[in-house]
Amino acid sequence: MADFDTNRFQSKNQSYETPNSLYLKLDEIFHFTRDACASAENAKCSQYWSEENSCLDKEWDGVNWVNPPYKNMKTFIKKAFDSRDSSVSVLLIPARTNTKWWHDYCMKGEVWFICGRPKFKGCIHGLPQPLALVIFGSGTPGAMKSFYL
Ligand SMILES: C[S@@+](CC[C@H](N)C(=O)[O-])C[C@H]1O[C@@H](n2cnc3c(N)ncnc32)[C@H](O)[C@@H]1O
Repeated sequence: MADFDTNRFQSKNQSYETPNSLYLKLDEIFHFTRDACASAENAKCSQYWSEENSCLDKEWDGVNWVNPPYKNMKTFIKKAFDSRDSSVSVLLIPARTNTKWWHDYCMKGEVWFICGRPKFKGCIHGLPQPLALVIFGSGTPGAMKSFYL
């Protein structure tokens, strides 16, 4: 298995950047105002929060792109869920449909299952594990659809 795949499954690397093709397709739909989980090197929006200026202790507003670090991912998902009345958030996360956090939070958002294997920046292979986009703060909670790359 490629290094990337091993790393991603084991959560060693927390900073894989979303491919522009995927991000731009979603930005055309949602018009993001902030990248909630980013660094100066990988921020998708001029307005962003980072490890040093954490999204977890902020009041969320606007339209947030959220590709959270895999470490403590549930905390970031809960934060986006709890902020659903003041913001829209679109999360790119593994579709771990057997976890408690999936049922406690993701099932209360709108879920778009990704068809295909996005190739994150700097990686040789597309990610084999299933991914989903979970939307809090707009759309129809509980609704599901396919999202083709
Ligand atoms: C998977 S990367 C997402 C990269 C990029 N924003 C994208 O979608 O292409 C997760 C990013 O979240 C950052 N991060 C870690 N802890 C954070 C926190 N508490 N608040 C905001 N960002 C954080 C990491 O440094 C990393 O850059």
